[in-house]
Amino acid sequence: MKKLAAGNWKMNGSMAALAEAQALVAAHPAPSCEMLLCPPATLIAALSAQAKGTPLMVGGQDCHPKASGAHTGDISAVMLKDAGATHVILGHSERRTDHGETDALVKAKAEAAIAAGLIAIVCIGETEAERDAGRTLAVIGTQLDGSVPAGATAANLVIAYEPVWAIGTGRTPTLAEIAEVHAFLRARLQGLIGPDAAGTRLLYGGSVKPSNATDIFAVPHVDGALVGGASLKAADFGAIVAALSA
Ligand code: PGA
Repeated sequence: MKKLAAGNWKMNGSMAALAEAQALVAAHPAPSCEMLLCPPATLIAALSAQAKGTPLMVGGQDCHPKASGAHTGDISAVMLKDAGATHVILGHSERRTDHGETDALVKAKAEAAIAAGLIAIVCIGETEAERDAGRTLAVIGTQLDGSVPAGATAANLVIAYEPVWAIGTGRTPTLAEIAEVHAFLRARLQGLIGPDAAGTRLLYGGSVKPSNATDIFAVPHVDGALVGGASLKAADFGAIVAALSA
């Protein structure tokens, strides 16, 4: 399994930001891990065109469960694919919080993504209160059970474990805590999708940066990272790509 460095630009970036992606590819023309950037939807087609013929892949940050129709402001998985995307992030905690997304909706979106030929990156993670209450594994187990799409395989599904309290805060779980969750996810996924669980990428996300990437990537069952803030600058994301390629 090739590991995956996935960057999530969130609601950041204009056409000028495509220069960062250009610099990233120039510095890492042949990484031994997979390299993905998920810019705002407005940049997907332009970034896909720019990245053509390079190892950089492009993804969306959300999609609607339907392929088309009267859904003002929404974007379908089919449209993301048409714009050049290969992946789509689904159920990010900011979507779950800002837009009230449930596990059932995330699952429906992931099924639409797979039907459109995209790789679904399904995000799960506990809040700080849930961790403090000792409910981390129960919470993420429920989210995993409810969000994993029908028809999921190692080739069309990626799971991202992102503790809500670690996103954008500079705080991370201990390496032992990450190890505990990732081992749990691998086993739980086996019950959901069978032997393909062994080859399904399990990403860690939440305040991954160049200074902690090497340690996090050495944790068993961590097959890459979903990176927010540190994916905006080519130098920072490039250092994370390098750590994952080592
Ligand atoms: P962060 O965000 O790296 O800025 O903490 C991670 C994410 O939300 O995917």
